[in-house]
Amino acid sequence: MKYTEPMLRDFALQGKTIIVTGGGSGLGKTMSRYFLQLGAKVVITSRNFEKLKKAAEDLSQETGGQVLPLTCDVRHYDQVKQMLEQAVKQFGTVNGLVNNAAGNFISPTERLSANAFDTIIDIVLKGSKNTTLALGKYWIKEQIKPTTILNIVTTYAWTGSAFVVPSATAKAGVLAMTRSLAVEWAKYGIRSNAIAPGPFPTKGAWDRLLPGDLKEKFDPAKKIPLKRVGEHQELANLAAYLMSDYSAYINGEVITIDGGEWLYGAGEFNQLDKIPPEMWDRLEQMIKNRKK
Ligand code: HXC
Ligand code: NAP
Repeated sequence: MKYTEPMLRDFALQGKTIIVTGGGSGLGKTMSRYFLQLGAKVVITSRNFEKLKKAAEDLSQETGGQVLPLTCDVRHYDQVKQMLEQAVKQFGTVNGLVNNAAGNFISPTERLSANAFDTIIDIVLKGSKNTTLALGKYWIKEQIKPTTILNIVTTYAWTGSAFVVPSATAKAGVLAMTRSLAVEWAKYGIRSNAIAPGPFPTKGAWDRLLPGDLKEKFDPAKKIPLKRVGEHQELANLAAYLMSDYSAYINGEVITIDGGEWLYGAGEFNQLDKIPPEMWDRLEQMIKNRKK
């Protein structure tokens, strides 16, 4: 058994229809593929229809599942409502939402225009709000239950991070929304959870966060206690579990999947892992000698 293998039992998502925003690339595409393999119907959405159409063809060929590509810029509530209407028309009902679409790039904050900052907030925070509000209203009105919202955030949603300040600000808001609605909407059978991934290589993220030779200079694997980046299937396993009824009692949780990365940055003495054993011998002697 390996962590790169699919984990859930066959048909674990049978009967579910799940909207995955940003489902045409990167982690969204990986999650969509696994949801389809587990029997869900999947709606993939983003701004670029050509990309979505190609992704939908790939996914249905690979899995034999039903996947519907729909253009929708999550920044616009009217587009989200239209997308939902089309999804319901095609599949009859929708009972899952994965807020995965995002925008991000590294930049010193003082270099950002007001529009650059807004662009990220609009995609990540306002976009997640738009889809969540549209789906929540629909589920409550139509009394559809159980239903599930899964928000893909990051570990810097709670630590913050320099040089990606709009993204950190927006993801923190999404995490607050996750926890707030987990309580408020539980009575309607709506669960809200989040996943906080560490580095999982995707073209979208790597081109914007580690451009050029930054990937070598700041190799993310080096600052992860497990000394590797994430494998897409292990994130898909976690997402499928949280979208399935197996996780029916998990509500309002954010699950970190980062090989220990954020805690490594947080622990006061964690950097001492760079000290070689011979030096520990000397240090131990120095400390013990203090008694004399
Ligand atoms: C400074 C920049 C910039 C940069 C864009 N802008 N890139 N400013 N440095 N590198 C400014 C523009 O000049 C413009 O401001 C404003 O931002 C909007 O840019 P547009 O290109 O017009 O926006 P748009 O076409 O909507 O594209 C949005 C985008 C783009 C976010 C800029 O990168 C995109 O489409 N991203 C989607 C996918 C993505 O980002 N994936 C990565 C997610 S990774 P002005 O003032 O000039 O108009 C992730 C991982 C987190 O979230 C955790 C990792 C561990
Ligand atoms: P990605 O492939 O660039 O995914 C982002 C997706 O969002 C794209 O499919 C993009 O499609 C879509 N999108 C962007 N703006 C949109 C908008 N306005 N409306 C609708 N869709 C929009 O990057 P990724 O790495 O897979 O990221 C997926 C998620 O994981 C994000 O939430 C990200 O923050 C999170 N995450 C990733 C990592 C990582 O290491 N990869 C780590 C932590 C968290 P279009 O361009 O076609 O619109």
